[in-house]
Amino acid sequence: MTSIKDLYQSGDWKAEKHVPTIVAPDKAAKGEVFSIEVSVGKEIAHPNTSVHHIGWIEVYFFPEGEKFPIQISRCEFTSHGASAQGSDTSTIYSVPAANIFFKTEKSGTILASSYCNIHGLWEGSQAITIE
Ligand SMILES: [Fe+2]
Repeated sequence: MTSIKDLYQSGDWKAEKHVPTIVAPDKAAKGEVFSIEVSVGKEIAHPNTSVHHIGWIEVYFFPEGEKFPIQISRCEFTSHGASAQGSDTSTIYSVPAANIFFKTEKSGTILASSYCNIHGLWEGSQAITIE
């Protein structure tokens, strides 16, 4: 039986265009609101067409010492060039990137997952220290 955890792919986002990139501060103060940027294709552009695109990015925070992650955000990218005239005719394309703001009083790991409609599920992570 296949488990969904076996379907997540990963790698170095600078070499693999599907891996979601997390740009976050290394450190933040307890309770301080900070911003992170999540995106796919930051170093190597991913195609963005009606037939091949990034559908969504989800962001979780896994606090040190906890058992379960906390979902921070889910970003849907819903325009990929289609219109009543057909595929790649609208000129309108969602870009798979978002700025997300949150705060925490615990250090932990920011986790991102993303979905390419052709190449499946991908993951990336970034630690943050809360002082
Ligand atoms: Fe892809």
